Amino acid sequence: MNRFSLNDKTALITGASRGLGKAIALAFADAGANVVLVSRSESTLLKVKKEIEQKEGRANIFPFDLFQVDEVGELFHRIRAETGHVDILVNVAGTIFRTDAVDFPLDQWQRILTLNLTVPFVLSQSFARACIDGKHPGKIINIASLLSEAARPGIPAYTASKGGIKQLTMALAVEWAKYKINVNAIGPGYFETELTKPLVDDKAFTRWVKESTPIGRWGLPDELTGAAVFLASAASDFITGQTIYVDGGWLANL
Ligand SMILES: NC(=O)c1ccc[n+]([C@@H]2O[C@H](COP(=O)([O-])OP(=O)(O)OC[C@H]3O[C@@H](n4cnc5c(N)ncnc54)[C@H](OP(=O)(O)O)[C@@H]3O)[C@@H](O)[C@H]2O)c1
Repeated sequence: MNRFSLNDKTALITGASRGLGKAIALAFADAGANVVLVSRSESTLLKVKKEIEQKEGRANIFPFDLFQVDEVGELFHRIRAETGHVDILVNVAGTIFRTDAVDFPLDQWQRILTLNLTVPFVLSQSFARACIDGKHPGKIINIASLLSEAARPGIPAYTASKGGIKQLTMALAVEWAKYKINVNAIGPGYFETELTKPLVDDKAFTRWVKESTPIGRWGLPDELTGAAVFLASAASDFITGQTIYVDGGWLANL
């Protein structure tokens, strides 16, 4: 099982204050990584850091608003200066806005595309530059979605961003394989988090999720972490450009 260990690795995880990002951060710390946690809320990040340290794990926090795209490169340099080389980058931070396409405001379109697609690209650039210059291998994990494969009405920007992140994963994978940087994505099905709370609370939607997911329920954030640890570890060294769906069978269901 050593090939699944993240001992001596440093992993930067965005969106680590709650939901799927927090679950991944806790699992990486359990697997031995020093985790670097990024999100806007300092107080929430501090709680996650404390939770990790109570279990003998190691965590650093960098509160930052990723909408400040122009400063993301500087953030990455600051992180490296304080924590040393970053071996693993997990782009989790994301957001959604729900309105019919015909009325969808341009500023919301730009916000969603920025956080869900542009920020992962810009952070990946900084990460890859550091890996290439230092001749280090690296692992990038993006968070895709069922919306990378299919669509529902009312979330056009989110759907475009998640289609884009799947394609970006392949684009970076083929370009950076020669530097031993693996780039993969995880496509979660329907998971209970703050992002999906309005849907969890909607009885009709929850009934639809249960009916269309063969396993018959919402996913729990911890259930995403096996795939994340695998894609971050040496056990996945020959896998790149893939999106692994952790969806309770949703995509397999006709
Ligand atoms: N839940 C699902 O069913 C599901 C399904 C498919 C894909 N996904 C994807 O999985 C990812 C995480 O989703 P989630 O359900 O865990 O969402 P969530 O509970 O809403 O968490 C989002 C995370 O992103 C951070 N964040 C949001 N805006 C930010 C900003 N401007 N700068 C820095 N950090 C920011 C939030 O922290 P702060 O508020 O402290 O900044 C939080 O840590 C997203 O990319 C989402 O699209 C989720």
